[in-house]
Amino acid sequence: MKGIILAGGSGTRLYPVTQGISKQLMPIYDKPMIFYPLSTLIQAGITEILIITTPEDSQNFTRLLGDGAHLGISLSYAVQDQPLGLAHAFIIGADFVGDDSVALVLGDNIFHGITFDELDDVDGGLVFAYEVSDPQRYGVVEFDASGHALSIEEKPTHPLSSYAVVGLYFYDNTVLDIAQNISPSQRGELEITAINEEYLRRGKLQVRKLSPGNVWLDTGTFDSMSEAAAYVEVLQKRTGQVIGSPEVAAFEHGLISAAQLSQLAQPYMKSGYGVLLEKVAAGDKD
Ligand code: DAU
Repeated sequence: MKGIILAGGSGTRLYPVTQGISKQLMPIYDKPMIFYPLSTLIQAGITEILIITTPEDSQNFTRLLGDGAHLGISLSYAVQDQPLGLAHAFIIGADFVGDDSVALVLGDNIFHGITFDELDDVDGGLVFAYEVSDPQRYGVVEFDASGHALSIEEKPTHPLSSYAVVGLYFYDNTVLDIAQNISPSQRGELEITAINEEYLRRGKLQVRKLSPGNVWLDTGTFDSMSEAAAYVEVLQKRTGQVIGSPEVAAFEHGLISAAQLSQLAQPYMKSGYGVLLEKVAAGDKD
């Protein structure tokens, strides 16, 4: 399975900050936002990843993450000239995906405590729903009494449930074809919800409810960004665990050794991030 991180967009909800820097390079506590979705893909066992950015920000992402060899993965880059929608990722990334299945993660979504299994043989689409207090900001799933998805609606004024579709999507290869055939929405975007609706229409969409114990945070506004940073800070300080570290995810998946992890920690010792990585490399969980 291939992976795509969508890290473009105009970031207007975070102006003026994002007039000078890509949103997905901004910090969530002690690391750049994109570290979190990158760790999620590595945790899902994905090692070939395409990062889609705006043309202006592309170089900064390459400077930060390189070709991924230091993490035992392969990273490549593509640009999206204009924010034409989330589903546009499957048009830009079609050659990269080839005949494979694909996971898409949004560059501003943070997941913690979710475990993934049996994803390689995804038949159709697999998405996750999370109960939120403000569903009108998201794609919303309506379920029947037995928990099957009935409909999905993008940012409804009158949501039919409080379950939001999170920004992590797993699809079989037919997604490439579906993406070619959907039309832009009223706001002029190729919506990921249109892809999910098409899978649902074909009876090929699995929607799994995440438990409240799983954590999904989005960082689309100043408030949600600072809440996400507070969550990471409190949990890291309290437990000594590192959240959203691609280095640790790569180590835990056997892609790099403890010695390599320790070496990766060195440039970060002054910031404290390196100290956390060193602790993991030394097997010190306290
Ligand atoms: O966060 C989950 C939600 O993400 C889903 O529930 C919605 O169904 C889905 O449409 C999406 O809603 P958002 O309003 O949060 O999407 P937004 O336009 O903010 O874009 C999400 C990220 O993708 C953001 O970091 C910018 C990036 N992006 C967005 C667009 C439209 C791109 O890289 N290119 C684009 O063309």
